Amino acid sequence: MINKKEKFQIIAKTFMGLENVLAKELIDIGATDIEILKRAVGFKGTNALIYKANYLCRTALRILKPIANFEVNDEDELYEQIGKILWWEYMNVEDTFAVDSVVSYSNLNHSKYVALKTKDAIVDLFRNKFKKRPSVNTENPVLRINIHIFRNNCTVSLDSSGDSLHKRGYRKSGGLAPINEVLSAGLILLSGWKKDCNFIDPMCGSGTILIEAALYANNIPSGYYRKNFAFEKWKDFDKYVWEQIKKEVLLKEDEFKYKIIGTDISKYAIKNAIENIRFAKLHKDIELNSDSIEYFNPPEGQGIMITNPPYGERLNTDNIIELYKLIGDTLKNKYTGYTAWIISGDLNALKFIGLRPSRKIQVYNGKLECKFAKFEIYKGSKKKLLPQS
Ligand SMILES: C[S@@+](CC[C@H](N)C(=O)[O-])C[C@H]1O[C@@H](n2cnc3c(N)ncnc32)[C@H](O)[C@@H]1O
Repeated sequence: MINKKEKFQIIAKTFMGLENVLAKELIDIGATDIEILKRAVGFKGTNALIYKANYLCRTALRILKPIANFEVNDEDELYEQIGKILWWEYMNVEDTFAVDSVVSYSNLNHSKYVALKTKDAIVDLFRNKFKKRPSVNTENPVLRINIHIFRNNCTVSLDSSGDSLHKRGYRKSGGLAPINEVLSAGLILLSGWKKDCNFIDPMCGSGTILIEAALYANNIPSGYYRKNFAFEKWKDFDKYVWEQIKKEVLLKEDEFKYKIIGTDISKYAIKNAIENIRFAKLHKDIELNSDSIEYFNPPEGQGIMITNPPYGERLNTDNIIELYKLIGDTLKNKYTGYTAWIISGDLNALKFIGLRPSRKIQVYNGKLECKFAKFEIYKGSKKKLLPQS
């Protein structure tokens, strides 16, 4: 008989730079034995905690449940070890499955080949035992298996998420360069915003940072709009526990008392933002304008501004520098009392903001190294200009 209260090892994956905020989110939902890893956090918990982490952790990309760990030096060893796992405890022979694999610094160095060998071992095991074999379905399998081999050490996990958790389910329109939802939520948490003032994104594009801010401000789960999670197809899935978790979380929704406002120079971007915000039913929580940053007037008083300006992809260097100077001038002229945070992959352009950052945090937007820079805008900011060289 399975003891549902017994804790086991779980891994939550994230982007580089967000490990600590993810650890805090996990502690808040009851995770114990936290271990900060590279682009991941290890912890202990139950299946109920796996459901919660998928539903609530804004900075998690994927939640994995390790079921085996062994040393592997070649393909035969991999085949043999995979074949020792009691796969019928996790799936039926009629079920479909898929294998994802990540391999680094190991004798086996082709992740696709590792996935193929794993698949063969599982299929052969079922064929020998049941005279039938399960099929592979890479799009929508019943069981998604994750193989991670690092320095010849292999961890086999069940993937409880399915689609990456950045796919929140609210995005109808992407826009030109939408920032990843998990990264957006990570920036908001890294900023330390206490939901105690207005929130502005003056280059909001398709509205991702605004939507993530509104979800956080109102305590709406990051998984609220998702249609499904992979754990719902697990053999031991407990529907009652899952429904209870969702009910309890809804009771904790807050009403945010301040404003969340966005603007963007592009009408096309604002059209996308409107669509996404409406789809998320957050149109009463988020105000939108279609002005260039220098014409938009943020509410007076204290506030937080988090934005993701263009960097390099489409504008040439001169235009980028002019744009960052414009952002800096606008901050000095219109954002007194605000804490402004800018994420950019263009470290040179950031200097042209012309204000000294009080903090710089390294984060990654995909593979691109970025700085998330904090600027405190107070009355004397104008005098504290940096030389623009
Ligand atoms: C990297 S995108 C932002 C993406 C956005 N975070 C999202 O998730 O979709 C940069 C945005 O800055 C906007 N932009 C460029 N110059 C601007 C200006 N002067 N004022 C306001 N927005 C501007 C662009 O139209 C674009 O939507």
